Amino acid sequence: MFEAISFNGSSISLLDQRALPQQASYLTLKTPKEAAWAIHAMAVRGAPMIGVTAAFGMALSLRDLREDESLEQAFQNAKQQIHTSRPTAKNLFFALHAMEDAFQEALREGLSLKGAQERLNARALALFREETQRSEAIARFGAGLIPTGARVLTHCNTGSLAVPGPGTALGAIKEAFAQGKVKEVYVDETRPLLQGSRLTAFELSSLNIPYKVIADSAAAGLIEAGKVDAVLVGADRIAKNGDTANKVGTLMLARLCAVHGLPFFVLAPTSTIDPDIEDGSGIPIEERNEAEVLMLSGTLVAPPGARAFNPAFDVTPAGLICAFVTEQGVFQPPFLGSISE
Ligand code: MRU
Repeated sequence: MFEAISFNGSSISLLDQRALPQQASYLTLKTPKEAAWAIHAMAVRGAPMIGVTAAFGMALSLRDLREDESLEQAFQNAKQQIHTSRPTAKNLFFALHAMEDAFQEALREGLSLKGAQERLNARALALFREETQRSEAIARFGAGLIPTGARVLTHCNTGSLAVPGPGTALGAIKEAFAQGKVKEVYVDETRPLLQGSRLTAFELSSLNIPYKVIADSAAAGLIEAGKVDAVLVGADRIAKNGDTANKVGTLMLARLCAVHGLPFFVLAPTSTIDPDIEDGSGIPIEERNEAEVLMLSGTLVAPPGARAFNPAFDVTPAGLICAFVTEQGVFQPPFLGSISE
């Protein structure tokens, strides 16, 4: 269908998600700084895809080593750049940690520049394969939760653009459709950046899966009218107690499901779980530029001088989540201690 990202050892080829669905254009990223920029600008997005971009970016850290620079300095400079690119998705920090471990091991072994570089390339590519396998397992387990004839609703984009492999929530929906169980998918458009209408609809269209894009605010009416059987979403960071940060608007859906007794499922790899954060109050929530809310396709849609509040995520309390699906299986309450990182 499309290749969202690839890495050849000296550059990253990245499908620029900002231009979809109108254009499938690829960016070539050659430095950690460019990888950090792509993450921040959301040319690439979705927690696991952010993680693998960070890993590939770190693999580029030794590529242009200056004569006056040590391996350690080059690696740490790159890490600093990528570390600050986006704050919420745990996968970014998970990937930086994995790359740091591989780098320190290479230093301990006294590897040459070439050897260290090869070690970083290998670790980044392994992380890509691991995330692919995790999403394949999540799609299989998640499909098992979807009843036959289901009309499902999803938010943001959690498919192959957001995750290596089939995806998390959208991966499960694709798998359930292949099993003949999905009647229709309602796709929240996902304001302000429209990941639902631009990206999820793009993926569903290319697979001929029946869907309707809805304004985010139409979800309540649909659910109230009994037209949705389950809501499936992804996650950017899951605290130790199960509180979950995901794309802004997720909390509204979780509360609606609770009121109407509908299943609300969170699907995410264990690389999204943060064992160091006790509950949702500790999850850093990114606030993005006001222009993302005030402008639509480059046109101002509010009075000149209008201000906006633009949190990219909200936090859903664990108590509203009927089940988590990770690559390890399906976890129902009480979650505490049952999901390992
Ligand atoms: O701001 P984004 O587009 O990176 O946000 C993405 C989401 O919130 C996704 O639901 C989440 O990362 C899970 S991706 C499988």
